[in-house]
Amino acid sequence: MTQDEQKRAAAQAAIQYIPIGSVIGVGTGSTANYFIDELAKIKHKIEGAVASSEATAQRLHKHGIDVLDLNTITDLPVYVDGADEITKHLHMIKGGGGALTREKIVAAVARKFICITDQSKLVNILGTFPLPVEVIPMARSYVAREITLLGGHPALRQGVTTDNGNVILDIHGLQILNPVELETTLNQITGVVTNGLFARKGADVLLLGTDTGVETITV
Ligand code: A5P
Repeated sequence: MTQDEQKRAAAQAAIQYIPIGSVIGVGTGSTANYFIDELAKIKHKIEGAVASSEATAQRLHKHGIDVLDLNTITDLPVYVDGADEITKHLHMIKGGGGALTREKIVAAVARKFICITDQSKLVNILGTFPLPVEVIPMARSYVAREITLLGGHPALRQGVTTDNGNVILDIHGLQILNPVELETTLNQITGVVTNGLFARKGADVLLLGTDTGVETITV
């Protein structure tokens, strides 16, 4: 299977985790887009969706799926999203599409995180993919200096403003051996809104599209 076929197969496999009559949390990115296409086929069986980005909200609307305000939801059984890197412990780097903050919020509310990826995303150690950090614009230089002190090489993502009006620093040169600790450390830098490590609360299930089909990995 090609990479796109693997993404689509993983997205199709996620449909079995959707409880009938529920609201579904929906992620951002090309794999999440395949999932939205699949969700549209069963839209009469769900109450609606919560979107992790403006782009996802638009795609859901286009497919005729109701987009609900997270503040009105008391139960979100499932959140389905891709990842930029994921380990067998189901720790992830996310935010390649710049939607990390809303993704982390929806994931925090959801009872179960179903991660859907192609096989290229499965890694032994996180950090080859530059770690995104969403930052309040006036704190950009300060946060970059603090990250440098931690041993990372931050680069401003040029021309990008997040859905929340902030900037993104991508941290290069990390070998993340302790993702839970680094997630906490980065969150404590004043001016950081969110970082793209999803380790304190990782995925619950990985549906990994491979050459030979979809593998289900849990911790
Ligand atoms: C979006 O901000 C990211 O967290 C995505 O989940 C991630 O970039 C995966 O994207 P693809 O599915 O396009 O690889």
